[in-house]
Amino acid sequence: MTATRVIIDCDPGQDDAINLFLAFASPEEIEVLGITTVAGNAPVALTQRNARLICELAGRGDVLVHAGCTAPLSVAPLTAEHVHGATGIDGLDIWEPAMLLQPVHAVDYLVDTLLGADQAPTLVATGPLTNIAMALTREPGIVPRIERIVLMGGAMREGGNITPSAEFNMRADPHAADIVLRSGVPIVMLGLDVTHELLVTRARLARMKAIGNPVATAAHDMLAFSERYDLAKYGKDGAPLHDPCTMAWLLRPDLFCTRPCSVAVETGSPLTLGHTAVDFWGITQGRRSIQWAYDVDVEGFFDLLFERLARFPAARFSRRRSA
Ligand code: BDR
Ligand code: CA
Repeated sequence: MTATRVIIDCDPGQDDAINLFLAFASPEEIEVLGITTVAGNAPVALTQRNARLICELAGRGDVLVHAGCTAPLSVAPLTAEHVHGATGIDGLDIWEPAMLLQPVHAVDYLVDTLLGADQAPTLVATGPLTNIAMALTREPGIVPRIERIVLMGGAMREGGNITPSAEFNMRADPHAADIVLRSGVPIVMLGLDVTHELLVTRARLARMKAIGNPVATAAHDMLAFSERYDLAKYGKDGAPLHDPCTMAWLLRPDLFCTRPCSVAVETGSPLTLGHTAVDFWGITQGRRSIQWAYDVDVEGFFDLLFERLARFPAARFSRRRSA
């Protein structure tokens, strides 16, 4: 079996971090070419640092981490410290990573890597889409060089989470989302319609802690922090788990139900900025190059997540400086 080659564009973020763990735990299926980071849950100075912390924690100090765009294309910056804490990954004990940040900007890395790859990589996007939109704008020739984009973002049935009509990643950079959704690249879109089914209940949190290795413990501690906001807001049995659905889709697409559609994102109205209008029926004549996830096998998803977290060793990896 050939591993899917991915570049992960993210804004860690507790749930972005767990998505990285899921990728690193699955080397037979997923080859991580690099990680690009973007401003989103926290400013990019923190999201790139957090990505390196997560790589070190998972014993992957060899992975290339690039810092990207510090602000959205047109709207004012929007961060989510009220959910993720001041560090973006509160719940984790922070250290200064030994692993170095790559000197090349994320957008340059994306363009150069995509143009240079002999096999088209998949982009996994779990933050605002600024880096990917910038890369598409700077070099439209990368469109056929992307196998597909698997992204966490958008909402239809569920309504929004950052505003009544918009999901955070879409609202944080709606103009970037617009560029990506119009690009013609095949897209799998996993939004709140599925992630609000993936509740980290008390029992699931306990199951995660019981795995007992340092990575699973860190995942537990981060979610135990970030859940407090969503528990108070939604009053459900657990907080939704968003970003790991992207890697789960790559690992086990059979866990999800998707259907083809076109999706347009609102870029004008202050009231509904970032709203995703999902068209299953060709009403808008849009190209139906997007697969919209509308259902998920919840138990199957968590079984996969726990099985992969249990693959990490019982002892903490040592931290060495990378090149
Ligand atoms: C998305 O927004 C962020 O807060 C999470 O990391 C996730 O990517 C959910 O709306
Ligand atoms: Ca994210």
